[in-house]
Amino acid sequence: MMNQTLLVLSGPNLNLLGERQPEVYGDETLADLVAVAEVTAAEHGLVVEHLQSNHEGELVEAIHSARGRCAAIVVNPGAFTHYAWAIHDALAAFDGPVVEVHLSNPAAREPWRHTSVVAPVASGSIAGFGSDGYRLAVQAVATLLGR
Ligand code: DQA
Repeated sequence: MMNQTLLVLSGPNLNLLGERQPEVYGDETLADLVAVAEVTAAEHGLVVEHLQSNHEGELVEAIHSARGRCAAIVVNPGAFTHYAWAIHDALAAFDGPVVEVHLSNPAAREPWRHTSVVAPVASGSIAGFGSDGYRLAVQAVATLLGR
């Protein structure tokens, strides 16, 4: 149902969470993060649909398929954050709230991570709080949806 579904999108390399640079990204897996999102969503009567992809086009198509069907999008675009204008454009064509989330704080890392091409088409961004960022992002979505 359109007003209940929250699309959670995970970009490249996030399938490796738990093993990938735990000193940066923590030791929780992607499944753990999705579970955090699901529990928070359920508290607000939302149901999470999750997709992880290492391919920009697949994420673009998932955003297209959310149009008219999903109430909101929470997106961690991984490295696509910093240069994937096709994801920017797809999100600009989505009607509901979009919240950008990052486990790490890209602003405190290498200069090439300081630019987000997604931030200008997001209602807001949450970064640097690890898995708790997923709870905060879903909470923000619920507030924006008036739930
Ligand atoms: C990330 C930050 C990005 O810079 C990086 O490329 C990622 C993960 C994060 O969640 O902290 O893959 O989006």
